[in-house]
Amino acid sequence: MAKKETETTDSEPERKFNEDTDIKDLPGVGATIASKLRNAGYEDVISLATANPMDVIEICEIGEPTAKKIISAAQEAANMNFVSGLEFEERSKAVQRISTGSNALDILLGGGVESQAITECYGEFGSGKSQIAFQLAINVQLPKEKGGLEGHVIWVDTEGTFRFSRVEQLAKVKGLDPKEALQNIKVGRAYSSEHQKALVDKIAGMINRDPKIKLIIVDSMMALYRAEYVGRGTLADRQQKLNVILHNLQRLADRFNVAVYMTNQVMARPDMMFGDPTAPVGGHIIGHVATYRIYLRKGKKGLRVAKLVDSPSLPEGEATFQISADGITDAEDEDAKKTK
Ligand code: GTP
Ligand code: MG
Repeated sequence: MAKKETETTDSEPERKFNEDTDIKDLPGVGATIASKLRNAGYEDVISLATANPMDVIEICEIGEPTAKKIISAAQEAANMNFVSGLEFEERSKAVQRISTGSNALDILLGGGVESQAITECYGEFGSGKSQIAFQLAINVQLPKEKGGLEGHVIWVDTEGTFRFSRVEQLAKVKGLDPKEALQNIKVGRAYSSEHQKALVDKIAGMINRDPKIKLIIVDSMMALYRAEYVGRGTLADRQQKLNVILHNLQRLADRFNVAVYMTNQVMARPDMMFGDPTAPVGGHIIGHVATYRIYLRKGKKGLRVAKLVDSPSLPEGEATFQISADGITDAEDEDAKKTK
């Protein structure tokens, strides 16, 4: 973390509030407004700091000046103000990358899955979203020269698809002790979207206790939200809740220089006549937050094709890789490489 002008000390005594401050203690909030905000999904300083004033006006039934005051108090507490270009440069120099196991896929992503960013992978069932997660959870544990960060992992499992046997298998392939590899992955099984949010809220504390954590996996991001919010009436509510959890994840990525990898299902788009009739669940809301979006599809001969979608900094492109018992690797045979 970048230091303030005053030198060595880590503490910032002049800041009365910080991102762990209870929202009811923020100037202008209080118990009544805090409870309205919580009901609407704004449970902490970070989510409030990124809120839209119009929403806050509506939710709390307060005037615009008060809403703005509350949001700016939250931003102050979250320390989300300007940083110098130099600090910005320092931060981006600290970006680290985790290899996916496939060179081609790493290149597509600009060198691997990035810290300080959310990488979202979407595609149909069996396209390899979870397999990439398993591989990353192993690769991040490797030394730098082997594409890792000697890091630990937090895995939020919303579908009950975490497999310890797959972790052990992939660990062996990479020469890691299988039990140790499992030990380094903390798995939280989420049973509802509220529970998922609560698990994510615990992550900051976990990283404070174990700074070796370098990767957060959410597999899958939307399953529970999708199941719980059926029908159009609740869609706005769902997007609001999603917005909060996604921003919390982005904030974790920034604050702790960790990578976030999340998976997402696709849904059929019957209204679409041309092109790929699939779209990620959650629509644009994830797209606006995720820094990298990969669309996965099945190719010929059991290969997979990854397409980078809407990246702000990298050209669109595709990479072909394969999934086998040994995990994610580059596609082997020559004609397979030409598969589109
Ligand atoms: P959903 O979660 O169902 O949406 O799919 P997903 O995209 O997460 O698929 P997943 O990552 O689980 O991919 C599973 C696919 O990986 C299988 O269908 C196989 O085609 C392929 N695969 C190849 N070798 C292996 C292996 O040794 N173990 C496993 N589990 N999968 C393999
Ligand atoms: Mg899966």
